[in-house]
Amino acid sequence: MQIPCSTIERAIFDKIAFAADELQLPTFLIGGFVRDKIIGRNTKDADIVCLGDGIALAHRVADLFEPRPAVAYFKNFGTAQIKLPEFEIEFVGARKESYQPDSRKPRVEIGSLEDDQNRRDFTINALAISLNKADFGTLIDPFNGLLAIEEKLIKTPLLPEQTFSDDPLRMMRAIRFAAQLNFEIVPETFDAIKAQADRIKIVSQERITDELNKIMLCDKPSKGWDLLFRSGLLAIIFPQMVELHGAEYIDGLGHKDNFYHTLQVIDNISENTDDLWLRWAALLHDIGKPATKQFEEGHGWTFHGHENVGARMVPKIFTRLKLPLNEKMKLVQKLVLLHLRPISLTNENITDSAVRRLLFEAGEDIDALMLLCSADITSKNKYKVKRYLQNFEMVKQRMKEVEESDQMRNWQPPITGGMIMEHFGLTPGKNVGIIKDAIREAILDGLIPNEYEAAYSYMLQKAAELGIQVPNKS
Ligand code: CTP
Repeated sequence: MQIPCSTIERAIFDKIAFAADELQLPTFLIGGFVRDKIIGRNTKDADIVCLGDGIALAHRVADLFEPRPAVAYFKNFGTAQIKLPEFEIEFVGARKESYQPDSRKPRVEIGSLEDDQNRRDFTINALAISLNKADFGTLIDPFNGLLAIEEKLIKTPLLPEQTFSDDPLRMMRAIRFAAQLNFEIVPETFDAIKAQADRIKIVSQERITDELNKIMLCDKPSKGWDLLFRSGLLAIIFPQMVELHGAEYIDGLGHKDNFYHTLQVIDNISENTDDLWLRWAALLHDIGKPATKQFEEGHGWTFHGHENVGARMVPKIFTRLKLPLNEKMKLVQKLVLLHLRPISLTNENITDSAVRRLLFEAGEDIDALMLLCSADITSKNKYKVKRYLQNFEMVKQRMKEVEESDQMRNWQPPITGGMIMEHFGLTPGKNVGIIKDAIREAILDGLIPNEYEAAYSYMLQKAAELGIQVPNKS
């Protein structure tokens, strides 16, 4: 077949073909590159498998580039890697793998191309294309991977029980590919995931979370999360999400299924942002609901304080999932905490001080918060959605007005703690905090204008109330 590649890639493959013929090594493009090119997705790396010494082939290929790129190689694994500007190539000798029940680390022996294709996870990933001059471009597709791509199907080359038992990470990969490519997992393969879900426990959290992040970055992450749920994997890797599932009824009154609501919210936000952390915030925005759920007689279901409980859960979830415990976690936590605030403004008559307070608390993350808040508007009742959206627009408008007049974004009160200490000759302590907070609150509540003079007078007043005197300078 015509290898579907760019001119730059073609030039690279010609060099590999030249080196392979020189060393008399049958050599093939294999795996994700072949799959993605046939599908028409961009790829920045290619796997090369040869019948022989992959490291020797990599060195010979490197010789053909000017300047010669470095070859990183791992003798124990028989693999080598060349990083070109914008493109990476991995070399390996064809191998046969066998696994022990308690480990993802295979025992590796030299094998044929067929052995090498057999050891691969899915038929769409087991396609090989010959690079040697004699049969350049010949597709070797023993498992009908091409047809699987056409039919948009994920299935294993061998018995799925075998493939997943060998390497349980592949269960996550199956779901991730289904979500990324919008493919379906064939029933036999999906049943095997259900049956072996428990084996995910031998996979490191980092690898699992890598796959979760890839699912998060799909066009419709809900597809991946739903498959994780239905396969039983989610209950093992992220049980708090599963607790969101289901709707309880008392006296004919039910609440919405918070799991599927959450999936809708993550799809909604994904239409407007590729930011991984905003997507995580969408996934976690209602995570505090199960812990706060109550049925109130005559009123129905409530989840009072779920935003506070949810925000407190965020660091624990990030720790468990080995997501970074840095400012990204803080952003997610803040968005979970504030996610009800914009829309709840519409329940009051929107005062300037309420808007100011929200703008101050959200700070530079206000746009992110508004994205989450609008994604959170989901209902089967289209009139309800319309009403919410109208209210939401009203809040946005008021925010714009307050922002224009008060410039609250990244706002700091005109009197700082340092100024208070200097004026009253105080050392850091409780009273400095009391005066500083009082000034900030007075401005946010609209009690005094957002100006130095007014804040200064207010500082003197508060200090007097606390019995603090200006020191005698003489
Ligand atoms: N592979 C496998 N089992 C795994 C990981 C990888 O069989 N657990 C095989 C597949 O044939 C895969 C190839 O190794 O195509 C390369 O792996 P990798 O680079 O991880 O995946 P890609 O398929 O290239 O896709 P992506 O880069 O999106 O992960």
